[in-house]
Amino acid sequence: MGYDLPGKVAVVTGGASGIGYATARALRGAGAQVVIADIDERAGGKAADDLGATFATLDVTSPASWQRLVETVTKVHGGIDIGFLNAGVSGGTPIASLTDADYRRIMAINVDGVVFGARALVGPLERRGGGRIVATSSLAGLVALPKDPVYTASKHAVVGLVRALAPDLAERGITIHAICPGLTDTPLLDGAKAYLEEQGMPLLRPEDIAAAVLGCLAGDETGHAWVVQAGREPIAYRFRGVPGPAGGVKPPEGFRDPKI
Ligand SMILES: NC(=O)c1ccc[n+]([C@@H]2O[C@H](COP(=O)([O-])OP(=O)(O)OC[C@H]3O[C@@H](n4cnc5c(N)ncnc54)[C@H](O)[C@@H]3O)[C@@H](O)[C@H]2O)c1
Repeated sequence: MGYDLPGKVAVVTGGASGIGYATARALRGAGAQVVIADIDERAGGKAADDLGATFATLDVTSPASWQRLVETVTKVHGGIDIGFLNAGVSGGTPIASLTDADYRRIMAINVDGVVFGARALVGPLERRGGGRIVATSSLAGLVALPKDPVYTASKHAVVGLVRALAPDLAERGITIHAICPGLTDTPLLDGAKAYLEEQGMPLLRPEDIAAAVLGCLAGDETGHAWVVQAGREPIAYRFRGVPGPAGGVKPPEGFRDPKI
């Protein structure tokens, strides 16, 4: 039990801002070496300077960019132990006025970014004898936001991906979790913050999510979607069983919900 962070090398995507920055800071505080990987070079470089981390330019939507990142981090730090696949963007566009470009951009960052990141990191983590992956989903990965259907779709995809990957990665010594925060006070909320506060909606602090991520890293369990809500401890969401075929037919292994 337990997972010692000193000496571990952590890659944090979207680490230049918000939840990624707070988690990078918490990881540094716990003794890990941190690579802030972000598309925003100016903010990412400054964040790395502030935290005693290193910065690497990364566009999470690009497999080639992921390959360069893995090569660079391996050369500079000797390997990778932890991936926090966190970069993401909000949606907010009603379906009737959604442009092709907006749709592709949201899905590319929020979904491709996690798929390409997990694919790029599995080999390096395995070469270190195992490791940890945490992907940032959202409460919108577990509930439907009618005002943000494409964001909802993208964050449900992250939860499904994490749950489906967990059994295979467990055999490689890698745990993987999805973190599902409620509304958090970061630049992603943009103009909505004043309205939300007016409505009395409690906002989480990015530090609250960082603490939940470090909690995921500490445990040996895998495949959970952790709900993080203001004023509560993180809770592993319990999925209900899905009805099988009638007549007592047992579905084949691959069609059963993995019990981990
Ligand atoms: N803030 C919230 O209320 C909230 C709630 C639930 C989930 N989330 C999720 O948390 C994650 C982090 O969001 P945040 O609130 O900290 O937002 P943020 O805007 O503060 O940070 C997002 C970071 O991602 C980076 N990024 C964007 N596109 C990128 C790309 N293609 N490649 C690499 N980096 C890229 C940005 O430069 C930025 O540094 C996102 O996945 C978001 O969906 C946020």
